[in-house]
Amino acid sequence: MGVSYYAVATSLIGLVGDYLFDDRMRQDRANTNKLAQELVPLYQDARFELLQKELVSSSADLGGRLMVLDQYGKVQADSLNQLNGSRLPVSEALNVLVFGEQNAYGVHTTSKEDQEAEKFNLLRLLQPFDGNAEWSAYCASAMVSNGSSIGVLLYASPIQDMMQRVFQLQDRMILYFMIAALVAMIIALVFSRVLTRPIVSLTRSIQRMGRGDFSTRVPVTGSGELRRLSETFNTMSEKLEMLDQSRNQFVSNASHELKTPLATMKILLESIIYQPDMDSGMRTEFLTDINKEIDRLNMVIGDLLTLVSMDSKTMRLNRTTFSLSQLVTDTASRLKLVLEKRNQELKLNLSDRCEMYADSAKLTQVIYNLMENASKYTQEGGCIRVRLIRSGRDAILTVSDNGPGIPKEDQAHIFDRFYRVDKARSRETGGTGLGLSIVHQMVLMHGGTVSVESEEGSGTTFTVELPIHQG
Ligand SMILES: Nc1ncnc2c1ncn2[C@@H]1O[C@H](COP(=O)(O)OP(=O)(O)OP(=O)(O)O)[C@@H](O)[C@H]1O
Ligand SMILES: [Mg+2]
Repeated sequence: MGVSYYAVATSLIGLVGDYLFDDRMRQDRANTNKLAQELVPLYQDARFELLQKELVSSSADLGGRLMVLDQYGKVQADSLNQLNGSRLPVSEALNVLVFGEQNAYGVHTTSKEDQEAEKFNLLRLLQPFDGNAEWSAYCASAMVSNGSSIGVLLYASPIQDMMQRVFQLQDRMILYFMIAALVAMIIALVFSRVLTRPIVSLTRSIQRMGRGDFSTRVPVTGSGELRRLSETFNTMSEKLEMLDQSRNQFVSNASHELKTPLATMKILLESIIYQPDMDSGMRTEFLTDINKEIDRLNMVIGDLLTLVSMDSKTMRLNRTTFSLSQLVTDTASRLKLVLEKRNQELKLNLSDRCEMYADSAKLTQVIYNLMENASKYTQEGGCIRVRLIRSGRDAILTVSDNGPGIPKEDQAHIFDRFYRVDKARSRETGGTGLGLSIVHQMVLMHGGTVSVESEEGSGTTFTVELPIHQG
């Protein structure tokens, strides 16, 4: 780019010089041609005195030196009256006399005698204007009579001023071009900085994220694609941060959940070990408690394994065709004893058989967890209603109770792992807070949705919507 800029700049500078010069040259040629023709009769008639006079007055008008040369290059008249009779081997005169040109023009300096000066080429950039050199332009015009050249009029004009102006102009233009190039470079630099800054900060954030710092965000500035990229990055890092936090939470909750039964068992076992004379009734009671804790541990670990395998997507749906209403009836009969014990009434309202192509074992667990919760969290003597209807291509199952309900602020979290509304009481009732997360995950696997509606004090309704056929 720099090279092409340089090329364009130098040719432009040359062009301007040439333009100014051409103008002068055209003028000189025209004047000399005209005068040459006017002088032809005087010269032809050998009226040299008049010719001389004419040259002097014209040279005063034109501001240069005028000479008339004969066919052999000898000076016949000179406005300065110095070179009369001598030969003048000037290339312009030769061009006219020898090569028969009508007009010839050339620029000469005293420092480069007789050598036509190079016009405004690249060399000028390296050679400063030589103020002492004298510049002159020679213009030769043929004096033609009856179609043949009888002599030549040579006009030497001082072009010192003009050359100086041309060179000054060129120098100034060189300066301007350099300044323009510099400014363009600075602007390009600044622009590239401005453009790359968000990318640099994004790269740094990505590197930080790679090292495990998910709290990193990038400033959202500018507009267009870069802005969207920054926003997307921030959303992504926010999600990753949440994921990271929930994973940590999950691990700590799981450890806690596993430690509690272990601690209880340790206390019970130590009591048995350090009290060898403990009566057998108490010992049996302690051992029964230990057995319960083992069951509980087993259950928690089972639930965790289920969740983890669903997370890692290793669990697949084992689809068969079955009736969902049948599944509800079967599950209800499994819970019959528990319900009777708590003196709770179960009302089933199954309006459609709902033939499904789905994983029956998983849906059994969904129904069981919801019904178990309804029974577990509803007071004795409460009522549990299960309704199944078909709506288009979906089966809609609702499990309602008239229990204490779930506070609004907890409703958003009950599907989270290990989340319990009443921490103390749930432990008593044996819950770990994994039941609803398993429900949620299994319904999602089937392409369905699960939601909760609850009014504190009057009851809770869970609604599961499942597509009847999928895939
Ligand atoms: N029908 C309900 N009525 C009132 N609260 C409920 C109901 N169902 C669930 N909850 C609340 O939601 C919490 C989470 O339920 P979830 O089934 O996930 O866990 P859990 O029942 O405590 O334990 P788990 O089901 O793992 O044995 C419960 O602890 C309870 O506080
Ligand atoms: Mg539960």
